[in-house]
Amino acid sequence: MDTKKIPIYKPYIGENENKIVAECMQSTWISSQGKFIKTFEEKVQEYTKANHAITVSNGTVAIHLAMLALGIGPGDEVITPNFTYVASSNSILYVGATPIFVDIDPFSWNLDPSLIEAKISSRTKAILYTNVYGAPVEYNKLKRIADKHGIYLIEDAAESFGATYEEKMSGTLGDISTFSFFGNKTITTGEGGMVLTPHKKLADKIRKLKNQGNSDTIRYYHDVLGYNYRMTNIQAAIGVAQLGKIDDILELKRQLQRNYEEGLKDLVSFQRLPENSTSSYWMCSILFKSIDERENIINALEKANIETRPFFTPIDELPFYNKVEDCPHTKEVAARGMNLPSFPALKKNEQDRIIEIIRNNIK
Ligand SMILES: Cc1ncc(COP(=O)(O)O)c(C=O)c1O
Repeated sequence: MDTKKIPIYKPYIGENENKIVAECMQSTWISSQGKFIKTFEEKVQEYTKANHAITVSNGTVAIHLAMLALGIGPGDEVITPNFTYVASSNSILYVGATPIFVDIDPFSWNLDPSLIEAKISSRTKAILYTNVYGAPVEYNKLKRIADKHGIYLIEDAAESFGATYEEKMSGTLGDISTFSFFGNKTITTGEGGMVLTPHKKLADKIRKLKNQGNSDTIRYYHDVLGYNYRMTNIQAAIGVAQLGKIDDILELKRQLQRNYEEGLKDLVSFQRLPENSTSSYWMCSILFKSIDERENIINALEKANIETRPFFTPIDELPFYNKVEDCPHTKEVAARGMNLPSFPALKKNEQDRIIEIIRNNIK
C-alpha cells in the first residue's frame, strides 16, 4: 500500500515562482519596496476589478486594518458568524469592540442573514462576514441589511480568492474586503495578505496605517499611530507568479470537489452555495451524520497517512471569548464537519484512495 503522506494542503509552486524570486534577489530589492509590490497590487486589482488593492503582511492584520480604517473601537459592536477562523473575530477584540455572534445556516455553513437584524443595536457598526471554506455568503441579503441600518459590510475573503457572486469577484463585496495569502491559501505568498476597497479615502487611510502612519509630505513625521504591516517585495513576487496560474488552480480544485462529490454524495453532505455563485473550494469539506462517524473517519485516514482537519471550533467556546451563544447550527456543523486534502496537485488515484477509505469506514 502507498503510505506516502497525503497532506491537507501544499502550495502549487513551480519554476515561475523560482525564477521570479531569483530575479527579486538579484535586484537586491528584498524589503517592502520594489516593483513587485505595485505589480501584485495592480494584477489583483485587474483580476478582481477592485478599485483599490493594498498589500499587507498577512490576512489577520488585513482585517485589523479594516477595523481601524472604519473607526471601529471600544463601545462598538460588530456582527459576525460564530463559525469562522479565529483571526476574523480576533480583529474585533484587537480594537476593543465587541463581537456579536450570529448563527450559521445549516446548509451553507455561512452567516444566516435571517438572524442578523434581531442582533443589531444602536452600537452596531459593521457586519464582518467570512466566505467559509471558499463559498460566498448570500451577499445581496447582507448588503440590504447593512444599507438599511447604515452599517459597514466587511468581507473576510481569506478563503474565497477566485470565488464569485452574481459574477462579482470575492474581494469586492464589502466596504472593505481582505485576503490571506498564507501557505495553504488558493494563491500564496508564504505569509501575506491584501486589503481591498471601492473607496479612495479608506484606501489612503489603510496605506498610511500599514506604513507607520507616515506623513505624505514630511519625512520621519507620523500623522497617526500606525503599524508596520507591510508585505515584502519577495512575497509580492511570489504572488505575481501565483496569480499567473489562478485559472489552472481554480479548475484543478473544482475537479477535486467534483470527484469528492461523485464519490461520497450518498454518504455525507456538502456545502450549499447561493444561486449564481461559485466557490473557490479552498477546502473540500464534508459533513457527517454524527460526531462518532467523523472521529472514526479521521482516525481511519490518519492510519493511512492521510491528513484531515476537523472544522473550526465555535469562536464563543474559546477561553478568551468567555461566553456561550445560542448558535445551535454552528455547534452541530463544527462538531460533525471535516476538511479533506484539497491541494491542486492531489492526484486522482490519491483522491480515489481517500474516498475508498471513507466509504469503507462509514457504517
Ligand atoms: C477566514 C480567515 N480569516 C483570516 C485568516 C487569517 O489570515 P492569515 O493566516 O494570513 O493571518 C484566515 C487564514 O488563515 C482565514 O481563514
